Amino acid sequence: MKIAVLPGDGIGTEIVAQAAKVLEALRSDGMKIEMEYAHLGGAAYDAEGDPFPQSTEKLAKASDAVLLGAVGGYQYDTLPRDMRPERGLLRIRKELNLFANLRPALLYPELANASTLKSEVVSGLDIMIVRELTGDVYFGQPRGITTLPNGEREGVNTMRYSESEIIRIGHVAFGIAMKRNKKLCSVDKANVLETTELWRMVMTELSKEYPEVALTHMLVDNTAMQLVRAPKQFDVVVTGNIFGDILSDEASMLTGSIGMLPSASLDQNNKGLYEPSHGSAPDIAGKDIANPLATILSVAMMLRYTFNDEANALRIEGAVRKVLQQGLRTADIFEAGMQKVGCSKMGDAVVSAL
Ligand code: IPM
Ligand code: MG
Repeated sequence: MKIAVLPGDGIGTEIVAQAAKVLEALRSDGMKIEMEYAHLGGAAYDAEGDPFPQSTEKLAKASDAVLLGAVGGYQYDTLPRDMRPERGLLRIRKELNLFANLRPALLYPELANASTLKSEVVSGLDIMIVRELTGDVYFGQPRGITTLPNGEREGVNTMRYSESEIIRIGHVAFGIAMKRNKKLCSVDKANVLETTELWRMVMTELSKEYPEVALTHMLVDNTAMQLVRAPKQFDVVVTGNIFGDILSDEASMLTGSIGMLPSASLDQNNKGLYEPSHGSAPDIAGKDIANPLATILSVAMMLRYTFNDEANALRIEGAVRKVLQQGLRTADIFEAGMQKVGCSKMGDAVVSAL
């Protein structure tokens, strides 16, 4: 198992170091794991003048899976758009054809009080958001900021989805629904946007191939509301890139902290990039207070989806559960009576529990 490790920026280095400890532990148990490091994002811009340099692209393509921390930092916000860290992330997703982004929102019972929602609303919550990741307004052409003949500036982005793009993400979502409770909610804005009207039509057509799955459609604004009103009505949610970006952040907060949520971004052959759903949090970088659990849980997803190793995926998830049961908490999930630990201590505790 060759894994490209891209710590990235901000807290990326700290959290990836904890996930690497977990991989090391599995290796000392006899798993054949090879890790090679490269730069992505601001770190790559600093080192090689490009947020997604060729060296990183080569390594990522030659690896079975990629483990990523996070990218971004204030010091890069004024760079030309193409040189910004986020651009590096979008390019690696696109270059590796990672069109299927899985973002589970799972509430650990130990964290029921960490959510800002009433515990009866969120207890038992287990949602899988399937976000299309390589299309939509994120990549559509034309785009840019231009000057109109009257001298005023205009910003343009284009929302577009081809039928084949919708079909392939649809198959992933229906496939996941089949392995869960066979409930799929497709989210769109079909009352206003033609792109998503097509999305709704294609999902409905696809559903004929999955007669056991109950497909429903929901408008994105209503979904945003339902997620905080009655989130347990959802099992699998499938949506486009921009809606998925927004709804997955919202869903993460149902679970108490975005610091708990892993993600997998897969291509057609289940090669994947695994990263926490959260960002680089430059405000707390270097302080050893970040929560490494989302990144560690991303390693579990890697074993499950790319390496087909359900047993070790469950083992890692079990170890995370155990440290929570032991009362260990990073600052983002801390509550009175628990033991506050830093990023590195949390990593060590997971390794011991493993
Ligand atoms: C995410 C992030 C990225 C996105 C940014 C950093 C480009 O918000 O992974 O959700 O918008 O996809
Ligand atoms: Mg986001």
